[in-house]
Amino acid sequence: MSHHPIVPREKLDFQLDSDDIPQYWFEGDAFKSRYFDAMSTIFPEGERYFISCVRDYRDQITDPQLKAEVKDFMRQEGQHGIVHNQYNDRLRKQGIDVDMLERIQHHLLFNIVRKRLPPHVTLADTAAAEHLTATMAHVLFEGHSQLDHVDPRIRAMYAWHAMEEVEHKAVAFDVLQKVAKVGYTRRVMALVIVTLGFNLNALLTTRYMLKCDGHGFFKRLGLFAKGLWWLYGPGGVYGRMTGLYLQYFKPGFHPWQQGQLKSYDVWLDVFNRTGDPIAAGNALRSQGA
Ligand SMILES: [Fe+2]
Ligand SMILES: [Fe+2]
Repeated sequence: MSHHPIVPREKLDFQLDSDDIPQYWFEGDAFKSRYFDAMSTIFPEGERYFISCVRDYRDQITDPQLKAEVKDFMRQEGQHGIVHNQYNDRLRKQGIDVDMLERIQHHLLFNIVRKRLPPHVTLADTAAAEHLTATMAHVLFEGHSQLDHVDPRIRAMYAWHAMEEVEHKAVAFDVLQKVAKVGYTRRVMALVIVTLGFNLNALLTTRYMLKCDGHGFFKRLGLFAKGLWWLYGPGGVYGRMTGLYLQYFKPGFHPWQQGQLKSYDVWLDVFNRTGDPIAAGNALRSQGA
């Protein structure tokens, strides 16, 4: 049902092991850099969780197209986990205890959520999380890009991840509706829970990282005050997401109603011509940036 084929892209080189990537790679800003770093530590376990929750239903899928899309969805999410792991090695070198963070994520997602909740509920969580990531992709790279003044290698990683999130944005949703036959209430409840859980998780991890960086309580308070405004204020990252985000609450919603990301064709064209994800990421900068 996708508007574009889902293309798993493997062995991409983002040069994430380069020594000259600044610690605060996002506009030199501690909060913005660490917030995105926090998301990166959530992704590997998160994507393993998404794969597991969709895999629960794989044998019940009869539509060959959806079956193929599920396979490509799993391959894409698997690659995202691998690349974010490479990225997280940078964080390890900076003194962030990534293994501890991942142990916590794993425990929450696999030992608690997946053990205690039935598969249709965890699949609803996955579809909701996919709505969040696709919406974020639209907001980060549509129109005036939020990632104009950041390190090009890290922009490239997030750009690639965002484009593939858009390519496969309807897969978990289609399994949820067509195979698991989950209804409206469960679907939207999952979005509320996942939104709260993800935001709390990302903010607590950001706080931990800023502490590791040696910022004292009052410094962190200042960084958080400015950072929360950047995230949730009008025109902020999540502020700009609100319209697309809320569409999930429409009873007849389907992810492809949001259409394709306009910058997707630009990214795909440069990537296909050059095979270079960094050049493709650079092509997404806003005009004149
Ligand atoms: Fe992903
Ligand atoms: Fe995804």
